[in-house]
Amino acid sequence: MDFKLLIRKEQERDYGKIYIVNKLAFGQENESRLVERIRKGENFIPDLSLVAEVGEKIVGHILFSKIEIVGNSVFKTLALAPMAVIPSFQKQGIGSELIKKGMAGARELGFDSIIVLGHKDYYPKFGFKAASAWNIKCPFAVSDDAFMAVELTGKALEGKAGTVNYPHEFMED
Ligand SMILES: CC(C)(COP(=O)(O)OP(=O)(O)OC[C@H]1O[C@@H](n2cnc3c(N)ncnc32)[C@H](O)[C@@H]1OP(=O)(O)O)[C@@H](O)C(=O)NCCC(=O)NCCS
Repeated sequence: MDFKLLIRKEQERDYGKIYIVNKLAFGQENESRLVERIRKGENFIPDLSLVAEVGEKIVGHILFSKIEIVGNSVFKTLALAPMAVIPSFQKQGIGSELIKKGMAGARELGFDSIIVLGHKDYYPKFGFKAASAWNIKCPFAVSDDAFMAVELTGKALEGKAGTVNYPHEFMED
């Protein structure tokens, strides 16, 4: 990495830039709108919406928000969604830094696990594995290896079999 990267919490003045970063990374606005819906809802965690800044420019963003696994009880966990790095800054380690800082921040805040629906080849290097290992299911049809989870402490997901309940923010408006 031959530039200085700063990972920091989002500020209100970043909202417009975060919208654009997600739009550029995904090539559509669905994820930008998802961020805006989560930000307005009760599952938003201001400390876990992080931006990656190079110079004065925001080039990446990651968001973790509260979700639940519903099994023989209701278990609190986090959703990692979405994460984005603008195309011209991809494959330089920025996404990895966002995930690592986000995981550390989540642990500090007392969260013990994270669920992600994403690229099966990307997340395992951060410790994620198929959520089916804990019998944790996605409420909609996805390929088994794309629905992943990681334990931030001990065996946090042991005995937490169930189905993830994605709040309404995750549904398109
Ligand atoms: C997914 C995404 C956020 C990853 O961000 P990123 O900054 O490119 O991620 P990284 O640079 O940390 O890692 C990407 C690849 O670059 C490689 N890489 C990391 N640092 C590198 C470096 N200094 N030089 C060359 N390659 C490097 C990594 O090994 C990784 O390759 P691998 O997955 O084959 O192992 C980004 O590609 C993106 O925004 N994609 C579009 C939106 C999207 O799909 N979001 C995720 C939804 S699940």
